[in-house]
Amino acid sequence: MKSVLRSSYGAPSILTVGELPLPIPKPDEVLIRVHRTTVNRTDCGILRGKPFLIRFFTGLRKPSSPTPGTDFAGEIESIGSEVTELAVGDRVFGLGDEGIASQAEFMTFKASGAMTRIPKGIDYSQAVASLEGAHYAYNFINKVDVNANNKVLVNGGTGAIGSAAIQILKSMGAYVTAVTDTKNVDKVTQLGPDRVIDYLQTDFTTDNERYDFVFDAVGKSEFGKCKKLLKPKGIYISSELGPNAENLYLPLITKLRAGKRVIFPIPVNCKRSVYFMASMLAKGLFKPLIDKTYAMHDIRDAYTYVETGQKIGNVVVDYTGD
Ligand SMILES: NC(=O)c1ccc[n+]([C@@H]2O[C@H](COP(=O)([O-])OP(=O)(O)OC[C@H]3O[C@@H](n4cnc5c(N)ncnc54)[C@H](OP(=O)(O)O)[C@@H]3O)[C@@H](O)[C@H]2O)c1
Repeated sequence: MKSVLRSSYGAPSILTVGELPLPIPKPDEVLIRVHRTTVNRTDCGILRGKPFLIRFFTGLRKPSSPTPGTDFAGEIESIGSEVTELAVGDRVFGLGDEGIASQAEFMTFKASGAMTRIPKGIDYSQAVASLEGAHYAYNFINKVDVNANNKVLVNGGTGAIGSAAIQILKSMGAYVTAVTDTKNVDKVTQLGPDRVIDYLQTDFTTDNERYDFVFDAVGKSEFGKCKKLLKPKGIYISSELGPNAENLYLPLITKLRAGKRVIFPIPVNCKRSVYFMASMLAKGLFKPLIDKTYAMHDIRDAYTYVETGQKIGNVVVDYTGD
């Protein structure tokens, strides 16, 4: 089978496409014909082995798997002898943010892993683009108690995380203000926020509204600047460590005080996120933002584009055309 390959950590230029033997599923695994993956910011971190901490999960000196990839949407080709809950021909999608060797024509995956059937009416591209960013967005939101009376500001409304956060928060009935730049105001408006702030026209940190939560989904701001946007017991959550990795120690310091707090959301439980997103898709509550779609042989271009930090939502790779 054809697979994206790498033998060390490095830039997108280290990636090649080559042949690997077809993987054989263990008794509790399924063999999946991969139709689509994304290339996302987690893939880019794993590709470079940065931050270094990531290597404790992906291989210390070099990647433990030659095939990259953290998500998939595809069709079950065969099942292991102990698998009862899935069948050949099922359309499935799944996620593993420590790397699951999905960027290939075929992959194996544990039947009880972070995978479920793709809801009816959802195509492979929509399915796969509803996973990685949504997993992190869901892990921001489930760390706090969001309800329909809350006001939430999402900075980075066009990111994979931000575009998912807006839609998940709206499904909970919260009042959402999204921040984006001029060229993406229409795209972000279509995601359903109550207000959109164009950060090229207005500094969102000077907004007069007061929020229960500020979610910095692109990690471009910092607690000090966003503090005045928060209500007295408001919470700031960022997807990045912030200047001097302050988002690691500010949660401890702000917890000791009675007022505004910082939370750094450690993402856990991919399986819960996959099931949550399957239900959002099935109910018509989520439409992923898809930017470009690449063929497998253009995988380097896909990674290079994602590394610019300018993608709009999700970048998809098609494994059926090569
Ligand atoms: N904590 C974690 O576990 C974890 C996991 C995955 C990713 N991350 C991090 O989370 C961040 C977001 O990831 P992602 O995949 O959602 O990002 P992404 O899709 O790469 O976000 C890119 C988008 O952000 C927008 N953007 C860039 N600068 C901005 C700014 N100053 N204000 C508002 N929007 C801005 C860009 O549009 P414009 O420039 O046109 O506005 C672009 O559309 C990344 O920094 C990533 O490294 C963290």
